[in-house]
Amino acid sequence: MTTHARIIGVGSYLPERILTNTDLEAMVDTSDEWIVTRTGIRERRVVAEGEATSHLSVRAAERALADAGIAASEIDLVVLGTSSPDMIFPATACLVQEKLGMTCPAYDVNAACSGFVFALHAGVAAIESGRATRVLVIGADALTRHIDFTDRATCVLFGDGAGAVVLEAGGEPGVLGIVLGSDGSGAGLLRIPAGGSARPVVPEGVGDASRYVQMNGNEVFRFAVKAIPAATLEALAASGHTVDDLAWLVPHQANQRILNTVEQRLGIPSERVFSHVATTGNTSAASIPLALDDLYTSGRIASGDLIALVGFGAGLTWGAAVVRWTKPRPTEEN
Ligand code: UT7
Repeated sequence: MTTHARIIGVGSYLPERILTNTDLEAMVDTSDEWIVTRTGIRERRVVAEGEATSHLSVRAAERALADAGIAASEIDLVVLGTSSPDMIFPATACLVQEKLGMTCPAYDVNAACSGFVFALHAGVAAIESGRATRVLVIGADALTRHIDFTDRATCVLFGDGAGAVVLEAGGEPGVLGIVLGSDGSGAGLLRIPAGGSARPVVPEGVGDASRYVQMNGNEVFRFAVKAIPAATLEALAASGHTVDDLAWLVPHQANQRILNTVEQRLGIPSERVFSHVATTGNTSAASIPLALDDLYTSGRIASGDLIALVGFGAGLTWGAAVVRWTKPRPTEEN
């Protein structure tokens, strides 16, 4: 019998501090009107002092485990997608594993904003190959730690957060089709040039713009509006479905204008394209599981619904997963 991976728990966490467009108006030469018109973002969350990606991840993971109704000790693999780890090493997944009192293997995946879909792919592969029975998949980022808050081109876009799902092996799918892609020729379009082995941060480099997120926004926009529809169609084809079968498209939350363009290109009504970018901003690898948890906890996905989770980001990277939702609405459980 073929083994499939099914999502049995979902959870997310947003840090408490809210940074509004009005707050940003006091920091850089921007306006609420410009940010809302060009991105749809009104506010985003920012990690507190002393808080890091692992803390956000632990909160999201605890909620996903509680939702799944299982103990942390029942997990046999942790895969965490992030591009803002607590440290270069050890992996943030190991910090999460220790904080949750687990003993299973744990590792990070860096695919920037596509990180959750890449981590999900690893978790699904581990289950389908029989190497794991229950996998905790996390997407988490605190990119505001790597933003130059004097650069209006980037500082209005990003926020922090974490989301997680618990996958379990079973006879029924689950995750039906999952596809990934990478194109390193676009590596220069979105990156943090310094801080790694190519350009280590040295004392005299402090304050250098290369320590922060740098982006060619127009090129990334053009890439996104091609990559999201293409990845969605590829994952749908891999699972034998079409756009018409989707109850929800759950895209990476980067910019409302990207989502609007994707709707037109895929011919999917906006009512079936999830967006809460107005209140989260771009939370990178956290974005898709945060969106999924919002849909689930607000009772907008029903058991049997077909959903597509689609990410894109630095690398360049992209990925999509078509999932048959098998959990009842939270209210139906009570
Ligand atoms: O997870 C993947 C991450 N990245 C993305 O998804 C980003 C994709 N790209 C985008 O979302 C958009 O390209 C941006 C929102 C980044 C920029 O929007 P745009 O409509 O492409 O604006 P633009 O870069 O073409 O800039 C238009 C103008 C420029 O002024 P001039 O040259 O026309 O005088 C910018 O200097 O807007 C100016 N501008 C701003 N003005 C006020 C750029 N940022 C701001 C700002 N406030 N924050």
